[in-house]
Amino acid sequence: MVSWCGYGIGVAMADIDKRRRSFMSRIAALLGGLAIFEAGWISATFLGPRRSRVSLEEGLGFQVAGPVERFEPGSVTAFRDGHFYLVRLDDGGFLALHRKCTHLGCTVPWIADEQRFTCPCHASAFDIRGDVLSAPAARALELFAVRIDNGIVKVDTNKLLRRASFESHQVTRV
Ligand code: FES
Repeated sequence: MVSWCGYGIGVAMADIDKRRRSFMSRIAALLGGLAIFEAGWISATFLGPRRSRVSLEEGLGFQVAGPVERFEPGSVTAFRDGHFYLVRLDDGGFLALHRKCTHLGCTVPWIADEQRFTCPCHASAFDIRGDVLSAPAARALELFAVRIDNGIVKVDTNKLLRRASFESHQVTRV
């Protein structure tokens, strides 16, 4: 009687052990599959053609400002979502100026009556081209690239262009 009971327990233990090993081998296979998938994903992401990733980022970064004729020469239009002012100079050229002061980063409002940007934090001032009129800021307002496609003004908000001062080649012309 006792030996039959012992035999039964032995069989049950062997069965449990067999199921445990089967479960563990399935988990190992699953983890192995995940590791292979992850390695493939990393390779495709970081070792794939770089050019296509760059063009996708550029595509996402361009913000449509509107048709050229919407912006009067000598005007400044705020685009709060894009954090820039679209400036149309008297000669018809465009600049997209970053709203942040180059001193310590406060937002600079355009003061139309004075035809200048004046920083509320420490009183730096910038002209309509973003050039410094008064310190403590030492550099001109930074720029976003402007592109004109079929009469539509677009601003690349993906990348800020740092500059010391205004230069004519920074202007995008129609
Ligand atoms: S942050 Fe603009 S002058 Fe200091």
